[in-house]
Amino acid sequence: MAKSEHPTGGLDRVLVLEVARVTEAAAIAAARLRGRGNEKAADGAAVEAMRKELAKVNIRGRVVIGEGEMDESPMLYIGEEVGTGEGPEVDIAVDPLEGTTICAKAMPNSLAVLAISERGGLLNAPDMYMDKIAVGPGYSPNVIDLDASPADNLASLARAKGVPVSEITACILDRPRHADLIAAVRKSGAGVQLIPDGDIAGVIWTTDSKETGIDIYFGIGGAPEGVLAAAALRCIGGQMQGRLHPLKKEEETRAATMGITDIRRKFSMDEMASGDVIFSATGVTDGSLLDGVHFRGEFAETETVVLRSKTGTVRRIKTSFRMIGTKAVARV
Ligand code: FBP
Repeated sequence: MAKSEHPTGGLDRVLVLEVARVTEAAAIAAARLRGRGNEKAADGAAVEAMRKELAKVNIRGRVVIGEGEMDESPMLYIGEEVGTGEGPEVDIAVDPLEGTTICAKAMPNSLAVLAISERGGLLNAPDMYMDKIAVGPGYSPNVIDLDASPADNLASLARAKGVPVSEITACILDRPRHADLIAAVRKSGAGVQLIPDGDIAGVIWTTDSKETGIDIYFGIGGAPEGVLAAAALRCIGGQMQGRLHPLKKEEETRAATMGITDIRRKFSMDEMASGDVIFSATGVTDGSLLDGVHFRGEFAETETVVLRSKTGTVRRIKTSFRMIGTKAVARV
């Protein structure tokens, strides 16, 4: 048996801790550049740290959601082979710094994110927009539908939850393209929580509506973030649908070369993330999902959530790293 395969099938559970280490390293690196107004530098630091840490993991990993094409990005590009080259063949989706702008402005909820699946388990989505809808667990199947109107989705969700629509809150990215959607949600009587960036967290918030106050996520955001959010939801439970939203012909062509020939196809959560999936996110800036990195003297403290679809485990990990200069001792 390859080192990182589970005896009963799926990914070896050792990988749960390995992926946490990877997002921790990316978060610490990005956190040093919080509030510096330099998105590129913060993202670059996270990418480099993530790649270095991934190189130590016993996998034959292939990046399927990454930092772009090989010619655009020297690290963690789509198709890049990562890991030690020993162990199981896995697919990897990364967003080393989700919310580059919020990190650069030291605002809440930027994250370092990674998902890992058995080979072929993650939709190879190009870097373009995706129209998304998501709700948390506990509802009967098909409670939402990307093709239904916002009013119908909200009414269906309110019925399933046993509350009036006025008690439903939708999370939507604050963008001019969402003006009609926001107006329609408000017209139906529901509330809207607008977020400046970071729709992976937006989707995850729906899984704990009692705590977050968010029942449903709507709108157009990045397709890579859509696949990562679907991976998280596969582990926690919930429903999600996504459809690519190309802005130009070249994006359609790009999607086709990545295997998505029907650009109008509506993907279910299971079609975006299937088989055994592990998802890890570490907070970079403080947020309602996770605390950000705190530097205290010679220590860096992180908070990470690691999820696994096979077991449904939600593991929160607080780690304290002893640092030498900018490096954690164990990583020197
Ligand atoms: P980045 O970290 O790449 O800046 O992405 C942040 C984000 O808000 C995502 O969470 C979201 O899916 C996407 O950008 C939305 O794109 P846009 O900023 O173009 O509306």
